[in-house]
Amino acid sequence: MTLMQIIPDGGGRAALSTSDPVRISLELAAQNVHFERWRVQRPVGLAPDGKEILDAYRAEVDRLINEHRFRFVDVVRMVRGAGDPHRPSRVSEARQMFLEEHTHRDAEVRFFAEGKGCFYLHFGDHVYALVCEAGDLLSIPARVRHWFDMGSDPEFCAIRFFLNEDGWVGDFSGDPVSSRILSLDEIVA
Ligand SMILES: [Fe+2]
Repeated sequence: MTLMQIIPDGGGRAALSTSDPVRISLELAAQNVHFERWRVQRPVGLAPDGKEILDAYRAEVDRLINEHRFRFVDVVRMVRGAGDPHRPSRVSEARQMFLEEHTHRDAEVRFFAEGKGCFYLHFGDHVYALVCEAGDLLSIPARVRHWFDMGSDPEFCAIRFFLNEDGWVGDFSGDPVSSRILSLDEIVA
């Protein structure tokens, strides 16, 4: 279930916690962040590849590309199994890379086809923590401070949309705010 909490950036109790998609989109729209829900499609196969995922959402993907002139689209997948002795460092490295607050030159646009992940958006003295699940599309405007937690045992599949080849490169703020805010594991516990 999609869940949003608005949390003081010093940490502590959430000022708002809601799983109502309409309320979530309104709260985010007030910060110029676009959130919408797409009907979840069930691609064939147990672990469909990127092309199958894109084909399953072809109409919505094409609409978004045409509306925003995205030039690149890809599919990223993390598979459960952090306890696998052959892969633990790769998983924790991937998680760590996105846990520090950063901005991008371009918008960061993600659609969750499967699994979950938490985006944290930093506005003024509050952090908007949004646990995205299958069907959620989030568009974080350029230069908005944010980070992402995929959790200790990540499992998700997301479609990513890009305007420019290097527009996604992170510009790190150096603010340790993410260490004061609940992790994805803690929010959904
Ligand atoms: Fe980012």
